[in-house]
Amino acid sequence: MLVSGSGSNLQALLDAASQPAYGARIVAVGADRTGIEGLARAERAGVPYFVRRLKDHATRAEWDAALTAATAEHRPDLVVSAGFMKVLGREFLARYGGRLVNTHPALLPSFPGADGVRDALAYGAKVTGCTVHLVDDGVDTGPVIAQRAVEIRDEDHLDEGAALHERIKEVERGLLVEVVGRLARGGYRIEGPGGRRVRLREE
Ligand code: GAR
Repeated sequence: MLVSGSGSNLQALLDAASQPAYGARIVAVGADRTGIEGLARAERAGVPYFVRRLKDHATRAEWDAALTAATAEHRPDLVVSAGFMKVLGREFLARYGGRLVNTHPALLPSFPGADGVRDALAYGAKVTGCTVHLVDDGVDTGPVIAQRAVEIRDEDHLDEGAALHERIKEVERGLLVEVVGRLARGGYRIEGPGGRRVRLREE
């Protein structure tokens, strides 16, 4: 799993994966920064972790290569980006494309990017939510695996979306746990024109 912050989605997956029937195990946690709660969660769970900071590398391509190599050491079948706030590079995508999943706090294709919650509020949307999707070479443009809606309330405008983001994250954690478990246990198929329709296999 790749994280940049509090890692509450990571925690939800760690908790789910502690049950053998879940079908997935978290082999490592990677981050682009130190001193985050996400890494503390990995440490408490006894899961190996690594940090590759962009600023320690001469170019973005070198950082991407270092992140790819560090990830590859743990031989993951699936990579989950949950609150990882950097765009993954070409080498990472070449290696993990098709088995790289991201969770985003909006109903894509609306409000992609780093500020999905605040952008939905600023637009005046009445409904937003979360999206779990495959990662391609765009920003939050890959095929959608699953989505859930969350209503926006008038009072959400008072705290710049903090409470709204918390409500989204509650829903998001459940969705991510469900999708990752189903991917691990059954896999998926891509169908439809343009290869946009992801179908999780029936269990
Ligand atoms: C999640 O809501 C995730 O969708 C979002 O960051 C939060 C991380 O929470 N990601 C993005 O905005 C990516 N563009 P967490 O660290 O508590 O799991």
